[in-house]
Amino acid sequence: MVMSISQPVVTFVLLPWLWVTNGMPDPTWRDMLIRQEASRHTGGQVTLTTAEQKLDTYLHRLMEQEMSAAQFLPAIHFFKAKPLIQKSSIFKLLQKMPKGAALHIHSSSLVSVDWLVKNVTYRPHCYICFTWDNSVRFLFSDRQPFPRWDCFYWQLLETLRARIQDPIEFDNSLMQHLTLFTEDPDGEYPSQDVVWEKFEKAFIAAAGLITHAPVLRDYFYKGLEELHQDNVMYLELRSGLSRVCTYELDGTIHDKVWSLKTFQEVVNKFTADHPDFFGARIILSVHRALSVSVVKAAVKEAIELHKDFPDVVAGFDVVGREDTGRSLWYFREALSLPADLGVALPYFFHAGETDKEGTDVDQNILDALLFNTRRIGHGYALAHHPLAKDISRNRSVAVELCPISNQVLKLVSDLRNHPAAVLMSEGHPLVISSDDPSLFGTTGLSYDFYQAFVGIGGLKSNLGTLKELAVNSIRYSSLASSLKNTAQVMFEKKWDIFIATCL
Ligand SMILES: *[C@@H]1O[C@H](CO)[C@@H](O)[C@H](O)[C@H]1NC(C)=O
Ligand SMILES: *[C@@H]1O[C@H](CO)[C@@H](O)[C@H](O)[C@H]1NC(C)=O
Ligand SMILES: [Zn+2]
Repeated sequence: MVMSISQPVVTFVLLPWLWVTNGMPDPTWRDMLIRQEASRHTGGQVTLTTAEQKLDTYLHRLMEQEMSAAQFLPAIHFFKAKPLIQKSSIFKLLQKMPKGAALHIHSSSLVSVDWLVKNVTYRPHCYICFTWDNSVRFLFSDRQPFPRWDCFYWQLLETLRARIQDPIEFDNSLMQHLTLFTEDPDGEYPSQDVVWEKFEKAFIAAAGLITHAPVLRDYFYKGLEELHQDNVMYLELRSGLSRVCTYELDGTIHDKVWSLKTFQEVVNKFTADHPDFFGARIILSVHRALSVSVVKAAVKEAIELHKDFPDVVAGFDVVGREDTGRSLWYFREALSLPADLGVALPYFFHAGETDKEGTDVDQNILDALLFNTRRIGHGYALAHHPLAKDISRNRSVAVELCPISNQVLKLVSDLRNHPAAVLMSEGHPLVISSDDPSLFGTTGLSYDFYQAFVGIGGLKSNLGTLKELAVNSIRYSSLASSLKNTAQVMFEKKWDIFIATCL
């Protein structure tokens, strides 16, 4: 069936309620209620073709097996579950399934650390420095770099590697600095504070590698390649276009316009090389630790860049840990700038990535909506805000659900308890994304689809759920409606091939 790209019209028939005061409830009536409730679930209104029904029956059987297995994988920390998920038949199917768009990924964690270490750190002129707080910095330079406040002694990696006994062990230790992935997540990350500290450190450690101009090109290309291999066709990438500016070997610094143009060139090259990839856009982002005046300047700059690069720049976001950062309301003066100036700057705010009920941070969800956000990043707290939830639904403001991120950053441990189960059961607008794939040790969207489908959806979800989630990613993208239609047609084609080859 062809799904409309506009918001689906969901109509619920309220049946006259027949209370049965004694005796057995009417089984027909019971069945009807069960069906009516199921129809509200994400994908509950999707009509499956005969071929799709066949695949769905198979999926249902697999789901039953996974749910009755000794270990239920979404209940285990992802770092431990990952090798087991890779063996799951549902996961293998999800890898083959076209998943539409990735709408919530941060540029500094787009590409797997494996590539960063094995490819990028082996390039010539790469210097490393070990910091006092047990982290690393990288810098490409054509001469010995000057000491900095955080880095006193730079060593050329090539020289260092020549002296090292066990290069594999050394590379593994470098990878440990760039990712959260570990075999003992519960021991290493006893609290949200500890895991977030490591998170911020890893971002900073990767910066010197990624922001080297020649690397940045390859990095974007490689990032698109990893998504494409996982059957993702479009990306909206959150990027500050680097906190540290992009630099050349001789120390020359490039501005954001250069980075945007580079991104555009890479995307054009990638889509030329892979005609079944649709494209990518950027959501400019600024860190919530900064001051109102800095954020104001970032908003002003974003307005300009959005005007000058309408195809590339989708909009604006404020990023960083919500619990310790500043609230959206704190930045109200900066965020109302576009409206005050009478110009458009679409917002895609992170909001409600918190379990701190009733705090100022907890109000970010409502404030995001008051500032007309187009989507809500995470919205982990949304289920507890009935009014904000209504507004989000009524205005088709989709929630970007990143289950693995929420688990690794310790908002929830057993994904069956994720609040998005409520949203999914009532068909709230949702898309699935991966947030920081390299930090969590994922690539593409298949792992997060697995967790959302098996862990959060369970036996309530079916092939229609998967299809709706994938279609949602195009429907709720920032693309203009004509482009959405083109992307939708492309998706349908991929979907039909998937169904035909899966059986
Ligand atoms: C590193 O990556 C670049 C670009 O993706 C590629 O051309 C090159 O062959 C890679 N080098 C190694 C050693 O893997
Ligand atoms: C959302 O829409 C429903 C149905 O049209 C309406 O009853 C409700 O008042 C709306 N809620 C908000 C918060 O706008
Ligand atoms: Zn995020």
